Amino acid sequence: MVGDLPCRIGVLVSGSGTNLQAIIDRIEAGDIPATIACVISNKSDAYALTRAAGYGIPTVVHENNGYASRREYDAATVAILQKRAVKLVVLAGFMRILTDVMVNAFPNAIMNIHPALLPAFPGLHAQQQALDYGVRYSGCTVHFVDCGTDTGPIILQSVVPVEQDDTEETLSARIQKEEHRTFSEAIKLFTDGRIKVEGRHVRILP
Ligand code: GRF
Repeated sequence: MVGDLPCRIGVLVSGSGTNLQAIIDRIEAGDIPATIACVISNKSDAYALTRAAGYGIPTVVHENNGYASRREYDAATVAILQKRAVKLVVLAGFMRILTDVMVNAFPNAIMNIHPALLPAFPGLHAQQQALDYGVRYSGCTVHFVDCGTDTGPIILQSVVPVEQDDTEETLSARIQKEEHRTFSEAIKLFTDGRIKVEGRHVRILP
């Protein structure tokens, strides 16, 4: 909670929005004291926008054409989020790397979900990277966002086994189940005021 008001969350998406759906479900169930103030998509056809609209959540299509640089695009994103008094930014399948403009506007208040056990397999196609490497376990990581690619302080991780006959699709599906649970849990820790960041370490308060 922020004071006695629910924490205002801004969710950035690019695609299908199954993580967004899981977060909405936990909020609707009364488990997370938060309001989704807006869902912003850099893709006009993202199904996540349809999901949000179905719950009356304000949506913004914010495409990157027309911006001279990534920093200018991010400055416009910050303006959208600040106008809606957002306190926590959630990257739920948002397929862009943030610049210092976004990161500095929301210090330790931007969360991302990555489909691997960081620091292993950052970047794109993390599930295929895990299969190619031959690991026995993979999973997902929720972390705060800094200016690197999937390098920020780790909040929570969940582990899944990798089966011998896994394909990118079957492993992704197993990991996604954990993503939905783990991401919501990390957001709940934040909105309950139970997260303290000390350098790279995220302490979870009792
Ligand atoms: C997830 O696999 C997440 O790990 C990655 O992007 C995907 C988003 O899926 N960052 P969805 O849009 O939430 O269904």
